[in-house]
This record gives sequence, structure tokens and C-alpha cells, in this order.
Amino acid sequence: MDKKVHELLNQQINKEFYSAYLYLQFSNYFKEIGLDGFANWYMIQAQEERDHAMLFYTYLQNEDQKVTLDAIDKPEKEITCTMDVLKAGLEHEQYVTALINDIYGAAYDVRDFRTMQFLDWFVKEQGEEETNAKDLITKMELFGSDAKGLYMLNQELGARVYSAPSLVL
Ligand code: FEO
Repeated sequence: MDKKVHELLNQQINKEFYSAYLYLQFSNYFKEIGLDGFANWYMIQAQEERDHAMLFYTYLQNEDQKVTLDAIDKPEKEITCTMDVLKAGLEHEQYVTALINDIYGAAYDVRDFRTMQFLDWFVKEQGEEETNAKDLITKMELFGSDAKGLYMLNQELGARVYSAPSLVL
């Protein structure tokens, strides 16, 4: 495998674990303020991020490439209110999309079609993640300022259930 592609794929393991860490922090914030539904939504988000990390990990192993695990950064986002969290979530997903695009670009440059095919799933997933994050912001803007609306939204987010990724390696 090309050195740069390998390096970026390995880095992405860490980035995905960091994402899980960030969403755990968000989940914990909501738990603390009593919004259990929001806490559930971000807990499942964290689970999905761990799955993403493991997909990169497994892909490298399957390709007989060295896996190096680095330290996971402390979540740097300051949390002050619900809307800040939701916006930070969207911003983070847009950042992850850019990372995936960078890996894709590096694989494209060296005609690494197998890695491009592996990344196709993530390209689609990032589109969904960004849509979900935007939907949350829209719903919060529409209903979040009213106690009854916030209660209903919290109920809705509490109903989210985890499902394993559709990509199996
Ligand atoms: Fe692993 Fe939310 O992107």
C-alpha cells in the first residue's frame, strides 16, 4: 500500500475513536442536565464511531498493513448549551467528511481502487451523518425553545436504537 494512503487510513482509526470520545462527552452533558433522550442519541452515535474505527483497523489488518494506535485527544469542545452541542456535532461531521475525502484523494492519486471501494461506504455514511446533524439543529430551532416541544424531541431521540454498520469486512 502507498505510504501516504496507509498513514491516512491509520490516522483515521484515531480520528474515529476521538469522534466516539467527543460524542460520549456530549452524551454525558445531556445526562447531567436530564435530557436522557439526547444522551441516548449521542451514546448511539459514539457506538457508531467505534464501529467506524474498527472498520479502518480491520481493513488495514486485512491488507497486511501495520496498525499503530495513538493516544486519543481530550474532547476540546466547550459545552455551554444544547444548541452549541448540536452545532459542534455538525461541524465535527463536516471535518470528518473532509478527512475521508482526503484519504479518497490520496488513494485516487495512486490508483488504489480497493481502498477507494472501501471508502465508498464512508462517503455515503458521511452524507447521512451530516444530514442527521442538520436535522437535529432544525428540530431544535423549531421545537426546542418550548418546554413541551423539547420534551417531545427528547422522547423522539430516546427512541433511537443502535444498529451495526452495513459494511462488513
Ligand atoms: Fe465516523 Fe461520524 O463519522
